[in-house]
Amino acid sequence: MPGQGSENKKLTLEEAKKEIERLRELIRYHEYKYYVEAQPEISDYEFDMLMKRLEALEAQFPELITPDSPTQRVGEQPLEGFPTAEHHPPMLSLENVYSYEEFLEYHNRIKRMLPGEKIDYVVEMKIDGVSIAVQYENGIYTRAITRGDGYKGDVVTENIKTIRSLPLRIKETRFVEVRGEVFMPKAAFEKLNQERAERGESLFANPRNATAGTIRLLDPKEVARRKLDIFFYYIFIDGDYPRPTHWENLQLIKELGFKRNELVWFCESPEDVLKIWEEWKDKRDDLPYDVDGLVIKVNSIEQQKRLGETAKFPRWAIAFKFPAKQAVTQIINIELNVGRTGAITPVAILKPVKLAGTTVSRASLYNEEEIRRKDIRIGDWVVIEKGGDIIPKVVAVVKSRRTSKEKPFVMPKRCPVCGAELYRPPGEVIWRCPNAACPAKLKESILHFVSRNAMNIEHIGEALVDQLLKKGLIKDPADLYYLKKEQLASLERMGEKSAQNVLDEIEKSKNNDLWRLIHALGIRYVGEKTARILEEHFPSLDALMNASYEDLIKIPEIGPKVADSIIHFFKDPTNRKIIEKLRAAGVNFKSRKKEEGPKPLEGKTFVFTGELDSYTRAEASALVESLGGKVSSSVSRKTDFVVVGRNPGSKYQKALKLGVKILNEKEFLELIEKTKKSS
Ligand code: IVH
Repeated sequence: MPGQGSENKKLTLEEAKKEIERLRELIRYHEYKYYVEAQPEISDYEFDMLMKRLEALEAQFPELITPDSPTQRVGEQPLEGFPTAEHHPPMLSLENVYSYEEFLEYHNRIKRMLPGEKIDYVVEMKIDGVSIAVQYENGIYTRAITRGDGYKGDVVTENIKTIRSLPLRIKETRFVEVRGEVFMPKAAFEKLNQERAERGESLFANPRNATAGTIRLLDPKEVARRKLDIFFYYIFIDGDYPRPTHWENLQLIKELGFKRNELVWFCESPEDVLKIWEEWKDKRDDLPYDVDGLVIKVNSIEQQKRLGETAKFPRWAIAFKFPAKQAVTQIINIELNVGRTGAITPVAILKPVKLAGTTVSRASLYNEEEIRRKDIRIGDWVVIEKGGDIIPKVVAVVKSRRTSKEKPFVMPKRCPVCGAELYRPPGEVIWRCPNAACPAKLKESILHFVSRNAMNIEHIGEALVDQLLKKGLIKDPADLYYLKKEQLASLERMGEKSAQNVLDEIEKSKNNDLWRLIHALGIRYVGEKTARILEEHFPSLDALMNASYEDLIKIPEIGPKVADSIIHFFKDPTNRKIIEKLRAAGVNFKSRKKEEGPKPLEGKTFVFTGELDSYTRAEASALVESLGGKVSSSVSRKTDFVVVGRNPGSKYQKALKLGVKILNEKEFLELIEKTKKSS
């Protein structure tokens, strides 16, 4: 074994450098064999010994530690949160087809767009995980960004670094971005849930949720324990595809040492694609990770470019989903759920049954009409199905199993939560609770407010909202901004640290883009897309509040129903009060899109470390961004300024090492002032 018996010998710096490099090379090679190829050449023990020897040498010569050393995968420090970064190009999602007919339609559509041309496809597995973009500069791993909303994601570099199949250095010095899917293998998922069950913690519904939850942890050590993995399927070098076909790019991904899924096929016709689909729709259960379909991509990059994309999807790729998985179980009861807008949804309480890897005990029944149409009764045996969405649905009743003891469902007349009499607007199928103060509505409106596509405030789930409401700590979403640390810390299962995390998340959200706030307010018919459109047309929330019905319907995408609902919403005194509380708390009411102001800091990258006295991190970042500058989470040679506050972290050391310009708080504020004046 290398290194054995030589620990006692004192090495010179030069000798140590050589030995450290030799060990790192060897470890990288064996990591690749083990984690990427799954063909280890040495025992775990031998591997551990190599690591130990490297660790010992690095401890002796700390000046030789580099961030890409195999010993540096798991950071010691908890993270402070996740800054965001933009995706170029955006990370789009895929259109789905569910049958061969639909796939043929897609094929014919692109044949019409590329008349007379031969179209080759590459077929891949659609991994059911979380997509990620990973970047390398000068051959060194620098950043990992989640998909987020496709345009902007969270920077989760330290967490992704813990994935052992990920190379920390590659033999390509140009700027490389690889994209792929992070996932939790089924075995790791089972183990994690089992441990959580033993500790009395809540369970993850499926490996995808567990992956998403894990990537967002602030403790890289815990992330490392959870054994995520990645398959890559895209590569950009200096912003473009390096090779002329997708197949060759997949080859390059492999040559550079990345893990890609070896289940890839080259297809010259839709029939070839169908054969693979037929074969794998059942065999997928044997794979050690979850897949939910195939992804079919046009092979030629040049054809891809000509096909282009719609606002949401590329035209050159499509997901051909595997059939939803079905199960048969019994309806024990039918309960009512009260939504944010007071909509009453009947929910079937089921005898728990395993379906696609999770235990299902509830299914949505949509509305009274649906129940009648499908003749669903309490006590019925039913077929349930999990489609693209998480909540399963009842597909049909197994009539042959009826015993005549089943009870037809009678729609209650009163709200199950507040007792108010339900009403059904003429012409609608949905019953509603009319009580504006109904606690169920309040709870749902707060959950909506914090949700990912609204204010995106993490760490606030159902259990916490329940507690906050019960203790009377919040009466509307704006109250979140007035919570005190002691109040949070005194709640069940909350320590000082979690309380601080919640407060940090709330604080961060004050700086959100305007569309998030518009969406979060919960105006009926105003979803994420409409909120984004409204931001395009109004420079601030005040401008939107003062808009007339005519102003609103002038916007092409806004119809009378939506315009009416917006006017109605802002007239309501309760809503007005909430808005004023949000304003007083310092929540951003302005659009940054309309501020086409000068961009004197364009091209300048700032990194913050430590605490500032005059601004929170979010405010300082917003200041830089408002002047056209960029804020990054890690220091590199490309960083222009590192702003150092009280108790700075390792970024300060790194800045010193790289000779990046360092500013203290006073110098930073002076720079901002000077920049503002000169523009
Ligand atoms: S291609 C622009 N290939 O599926 C093309 N996506 O529904 C986007 N996914 O967001 C992605 N396996 O997270 C591609 N082999 C694969 C994939 C894959 C899983 C995910 C990805 C994407 C989602 C789209």
